[in-house]
Amino acid sequence: MKLAILTERRPDETRVAATPDTVKKYVDMGMTVVVESGAGAHANFSDGLYQSAGASVVGDFASALQGADLVLKVQRPLGGKESQARAVDELAAFKQGAVLIGALNPYQAADAIPLYNARQISAFAMELMPRITRAQSMDVLSSQANLAGYKAVLDAAAVYDRAIPMMMTAAGTIAPARVLVLGAGVAGLQAIATARRNGAIVSAFDVRAAAKEQVQSLGASFVEVEAAADAETSGGYAKEVDEDYKKRQSAKIHETLKKTDIAICTALIPGRPAPMLITEEMVRDMRPGSVIVDLAVESGGNCAISQANEVVTAYGVKVVAYRNVPARLPQDASALYAKNLLNFVNLLWDKEAKQLAWDSADEIIKSTLLTENGVTVHGNFA
Ligand code: NAI
Repeated sequence: MKLAILTERRPDETRVAATPDTVKKYVDMGMTVVVESGAGAHANFSDGLYQSAGASVVGDFASALQGADLVLKVQRPLGGKESQARAVDELAAFKQGAVLIGALNPYQAADAIPLYNARQISAFAMELMPRITRAQSMDVLSSQANLAGYKAVLDAAAVYDRAIPMMMTAAGTIAPARVLVLGAGVAGLQAIATARRNGAIVSAFDVRAAAKEQVQSLGASFVEVEAAADAETSGGYAKEVDEDYKKRQSAKIHETLKKTDIAICTALIPGRPAPMLITEEMVRDMRPGSVIVDLAVESGGNCAISQANEVVTAYGVKVVAYRNVPARLPQDASALYAKNLLNFVNLLWDKEAKQLAWDSADEIIKSTLLTENGVTVHGNFA
């Protein structure tokens, strides 16, 4: 059983799908592990560390992929039209019938699915992991969103012209920053906790009623919208809210933003564009020197001013909208992601036969398996 770990080639991607620690585990399980040279460089995992963990290191992706039964990736491999533009075709080097595990982004990149089928690849999309207790240790969205929520607050602090905590000095008192977190899922809750640890006065808002108690348990106040409709699906995710509610919500956010120094936007609806929560008019009415960090930019953004990968100043307000924020903490993000993948591979691993085998009836498999034997098996994409 040969396992390949590739260097991530997409712009801004600094993470790697296996760390020396997880490589050691795969070797102990009985796998032959091959790592493309430099795969862990951004995350401070040198080729030497992978070698010490029992992997062999090769100079290019094609050698790593040669005969590989299992390929672990952070983002989906380059293939098809995309590979022509970049003159790199990773998918074409995959062994027929290989297993691919990664954050394959199937909703935005559904055109990659036929490419997996053309090579008979069994492709598992980690972001489709069901939100059940048994799957928590494999949930890459949670592990990465947690880091993004933390980093969002530091990114805000880095461009904020003032201090965040209250400081009483002989030269006068600095008032604590007022932080508003929009969306209190995994990233939002970590943003609340990080802002609180930094001494801010924090409030937060979410359309799911269940979020209120979680927000308050972190010492933040919950922004109430009158006659709130609970917009939670049975899976624990948010769903679209009606127009009337949106108007009331918008008025409340507008009013709150006038007194906010730092707004952290994390509101998302799975498989849909991000809700537009902060309009240009609202930005104009904020105090100059305020900061907005928009973590939702990859799904279109929660703020009308956001420009992907830029810090834009509008009406004196700085709007920060980095893509792929977890990749701004490559070492920890890789470590958690790699651990999620290891836990998932363990579910697929037949210890006796020392090969991959899965139970197609398992809820975790059914939710994540996109393609198998040249056929799209996932209900949402078939
Ligand atoms: P997400 O990343 O999909 O969305 C972020 C937040 O934005 C959510 O809290 C959502 O309710 C909120 N939101 C959506 N539209 C909004 C709007 N118009 N205004 C304000 N807020 C809006 O969410 P995430 O982090 O994936 O968490 C979703 C739920 O799943 C949470 O209840 C979380 O606790 C739960 N969860 C369960 C897990 C498990 O059981 N294994 C693992 C991770 C999360």
